[in-house]
Amino acid sequence: MKTNNFLGRDWIDAELDFSKEEWETLIDIGLELKKLHALKQDQTHILKGKTLFTMFFNRSLRTRSTFATGIQQLGGFHVSLEPGKTYTPTTKGYDIPYKTERISDVAMILDRVGDAIAIRMYGEPTYWIYGFANQTMKEFAKYAEIPIINMEGDKYHPTQALADMITIKEKFGTFKGIKLTMSWAYSGSIAKPRAVPQSTILAATKMGMDVTLAYPEGFELDTKVIEHCRKFANENNGSFKTTNDFNEGFKDAHVVYPKSWGPVSCFSYVDKSGKVIKKYDHEKARKLNESNKSWITTKKQMEIIHKDGIYMHCLPADRGQEVTDEVIDGKNSVIIDEAENRLHAHKAIMAMIMGGRL
Ligand code: CP
Repeated sequence: MKTNNFLGRDWIDAELDFSKEEWETLIDIGLELKKLHALKQDQTHILKGKTLFTMFFNRSLRTRSTFATGIQQLGGFHVSLEPGKTYTPTTKGYDIPYKTERISDVAMILDRVGDAIAIRMYGEPTYWIYGFANQTMKEFAKYAEIPIINMEGDKYHPTQALADMITIKEKFGTFKGIKLTMSWAYSGSIAKPRAVPQSTILAATKMGMDVTLAYPEGFELDTKVIEHCRKFANENNGSFKTTNDFNEGFKDAHVVYPKSWGPVSCFSYVDKSGKVIKKYDHEKARKLNESNKSWITTKKQMEIIHKDGIYMHCLPADRGQEVTDEVIDGKNSVIIDEAENRLHAHKAIMAMIMGGRL
């Protein structure tokens, strides 16, 4: 009998922790589950009786609805543990009497009760300290044997990246020779993490695509992520480059993925003891953002992409700021397929790490 190497593993830094072959397996399973769902085949034997706990510290439509629906379609249950309605799980140094509860206690209790814990956390609940959410998820993982699923943190959004890879495979049938451009885009909101762009470029270079990262100065991504992208591109016969030119990124691209993210140069910082030594500089962030209003995707940009090129966005998109209605509702846009694929991607992840019988 073939062993399921995925069983019990955490899906937190998934682009780094899961191999190219494992990503390919999950992409194939996601596509297969999608096909079976379209044929109305029953899938409730896969995770029969298993329980998924979700904790959303931030808003969500797609992730929330697709995890809840996905576990139900696989025969399991979903329990929503909303911070504010439970005692907010917290780490040492952030305790508030009768409002918070130590992560160690929460994780060990949920481990005895259910089968996986899925967490979304970034921005305000992390005091805008880059890496805080990622550490929080890893603290859950330290105390719970059951898998921890990252539903978007401050570093990575790997469930989105898997759905995006499924969408690209569906549209082009291959990753080889496919040119993807992840681009910064203007938005009236700067309260956005770097998780989507970082996960997208990591997953795309892991799959061997030709990846370009385009952004205006001041919106750089994590240097460690960039190092990993160069390594993945070398290992998988793809390529990786960066540019500060919006149009250069779009030229001849098969996939354009223009989306806003906040300037990390303005984020909060802590010292080694965890004490905040620099607070989020909202004014600097706002000025930097407003000086790049021209980074909006219009019909003109779409005319220079590859003739079979597609427009992707994780959503929600800021219409009229990141992108015009004409583009996001246009013939090249695959946003609704991409959002639907969150369901199939999440089912593939849950089926494999929660011990499903496929
Ligand atoms: N893309 C994404 O994660 O959507 P939600 O914020 O609606 O979950």
